[in-house]
Amino acid sequence: MKKFLIVAGTVLVFLVLSCTTQTPKNAISLDSGWKFKTGDDPSWATSALDDSKWDTICPRKNWEEQGYKGYDGFAWYRFHTVIPSSLKEQAFIKDSLQILLGKIDDCDQVFLNGELIGENGRTVYTKKEPSVDFFKEQGRWYIDRRYVLAANDPRIHWDKENILAIRSFDQGGAGGMFGKPFEISMADLKDHLKFDFTTSAFIFTGDSVITKQITIQNLSGTEEFKGKLTIEAVLSDNGISIYSETTGIDITPKLKLDKPVTFKKQRSAPAILRVTFQESTSGKTITEMVAIPYLLTPKVSLKPRINGAQVFGVRPWSPFQFKVAATGKPPLKYSATDLPQGLVMDPADGLITGSLKKKGDFIVKLKVENDLGVAERDLKIVVGDVISLTPPLGWNSWNCWGLSVSDQKIRQSADAMKSSGLIDHGWTYINIDDGWEDTHDREGNIIPNSKFPNMKGLCNYVHSLGLKIGIYSSPGPKTCGGYEGSYTFEAKDAQNYASWGIDYLKYDWCSYWNLAPKATLEQMKNPYREMKHAIRKANRDIHYSLCQYGMGDVWSWGAEVDANSWRTTGDIEDTWESLSTIGFNQGKCSPYSAPGRWNDPDMLVVGLVGWGPALHNTRLTADEQYTHITLWSLLAAPMLIGCDLSQLDAFTLNLLSNDEVLEVNQDPLGKQAYQMRKGDDYEIWARDLADGSKAIGLFNKTDQPLNIPVDLKGLNITGKPVMRDLWSQTDHGRVSGHFEMRTQPHGARLVKLSK
Ligand code: GLA
Repeated sequence: MKKFLIVAGTVLVFLVLSCTTQTPKNAISLDSGWKFKTGDDPSWATSALDDSKWDTICPRKNWEEQGYKGYDGFAWYRFHTVIPSSLKEQAFIKDSLQILLGKIDDCDQVFLNGELIGENGRTVYTKKEPSVDFFKEQGRWYIDRRYVLAANDPRIHWDKENILAIRSFDQGGAGGMFGKPFEISMADLKDHLKFDFTTSAFIFTGDSVITKQITIQNLSGTEEFKGKLTIEAVLSDNGISIYSETTGIDITPKLKLDKPVTFKKQRSAPAILRVTFQESTSGKTITEMVAIPYLLTPKVSLKPRINGAQVFGVRPWSPFQFKVAATGKPPLKYSATDLPQGLVMDPADGLITGSLKKKGDFIVKLKVENDLGVAERDLKIVVGDVISLTPPLGWNSWNCWGLSVSDQKIRQSADAMKSSGLIDHGWTYINIDDGWEDTHDREGNIIPNSKFPNMKGLCNYVHSLGLKIGIYSSPGPKTCGGYEGSYTFEAKDAQNYASWGIDYLKYDWCSYWNLAPKATLEQMKNPYREMKHAIRKANRDIHYSLCQYGMGDVWSWGAEVDANSWRTTGDIEDTWESLSTIGFNQGKCSPYSAPGRWNDPDMLVVGLVGWGPALHNTRLTADEQYTHITLWSLLAAPMLIGCDLSQLDAFTLNLLSNDEVLEVNQDPLGKQAYQMRKGDDYEIWARDLADGSKAIGLFNKTDQPLNIPVDLKGLNITGKPVMRDLWSQTDHGRVSGHFEMRTQPHGARLVKLSK
């Protein structure tokens, strides 16, 4: 299901990957020498098979990039190697052999000398163990394939030729092996012992007390490790230790131990949590660390403040729904003057509903009051042809729940969007991704599956909270998850969506590859044009979101098929590599973005994610998450939160509630930032804002704190503008000539410069 990345810079990254890398001496490299064949035959697992006429393939790149464009289904990889016993003799720990196979998209069964040893990331420990259901594991492309066998396992042929055979199955998009590393080696201390920081979030109590659970895991079934465990918290800026504990520890085979630590730290100070284990007999040490999140967004004021979009587009006659987002001590009282005829506002929750018949622009004066004060702001309503005049802000089920999404999970997310207060900062959409569809009935109506017993009821419920609701489909017969697509049912599907009250459609290419394997530009546009007509006929404003991973430079023609946003890349993951590759390569799409026509670098990977049903805390550091939100705001990108909203931790909520940062994303001018400086060390992006000011993002791509210099001349700024730090919402006075800002590793700063 993982897609190849199409943004130019990214393609480059993949193409320059050579098929050989350095493997340590005590390992057998599996980087090159693989044989490959599409199709499926159980005899391809056997040692006796002659594969000399098979194609050769590099395991580090998906097969689409190596001459198998558009191929979905089964394919086999084979590798021949002698496994010398010297590997075992020279190792510190001699009991387990590990076979590392990068990642495999989507499913795999791995055979050694004709015997099954692993399936979809799980080792099959004994010959007799029954195999798990191969296909139930659809979509496990993001899991590292590490198969571990006891050194005396008869499936290993020491000092003889061994045949490794991989049966892989791809259900759509990119397929086969990719990633790294690829090797056979003896598992060492660092391979057996893992400190997992993703099993819990950092919990903030009050302003300064932090609790974190570290999960210590011994992956070995036989080795026991005794030694010293040290846990330390250290301030990033000056290395001062703010917490330290050392204990003796006995880590028994297969141990999985949750170790909580609690310490005090000032809320906005960046710091590191470091865990070190020193094994007593060998003296070997392993250290792992994680950045401790720090909160930058100040506490929400009790006085009223109006947030969210300042301009709203609607088509004549479409149902109108706009929730005035506002914060402040409850109860808040909402009112509006100059509301055009046809609209009414609920004074208790600021929800404006109704419909407007004629095209035209209206300026409405919004007012929100409580016993501490009054906030006022204009809202411009544009009744015309284009909707989504600011990028959509909301939530989507995919990055957390994957195909395990259900009615209950959608309701729970909508409830949390409201109860967490995110709705008051302008977050609006609750979008169902893949996994809701069953089949089309005889009349051509799309029937949701049993996880969605009442779609209209669900839509009504989400609307009743002041939120909007989205859905997902594919122009092909099947979605990427293998569910029913819209092919030949486009008109009927759009009617069904409108009758349920759907406000957003994500339309994902997926199996359309089978209909247009070598799609020309016209063939790429056709299915999207078809659905555009269907949506327009349905007479409801439905944000139209194209998902085809950037093919054919979709940013240059998305508006032509009436799309409101289009994905510019393949699927994002919660890693720095994925985030930075996607984010920093958006410059070339910049000129094509405009109000109602947004470049979409994919959904947010903050909070508890996991592509369902199991979730983990995002692998991005706090700084990487600041980069994510800062960059997506500058890029005027749709922001769809991808985590379990019902389990929001304090950091994630703080990260997503910064009104001054969100205001950059929602700026009514709708101009995407341009890349002022590109580089491996740091980048500067600048965005022109409607009030004549500029938002400037500074991004540190290195692993060390960096002072990033900004030259005002390069930004075409003369005089002495006033600088405001948007994350901390503090004024920094006037600047002239140039200024410098300290930026954390992989972190960002966001400032606004106004005359
Ligand atoms: C593709 C898309 C994802 C998600 C899945 C659903 O991979 O790019 O965002 O919608 O399909 O199957």
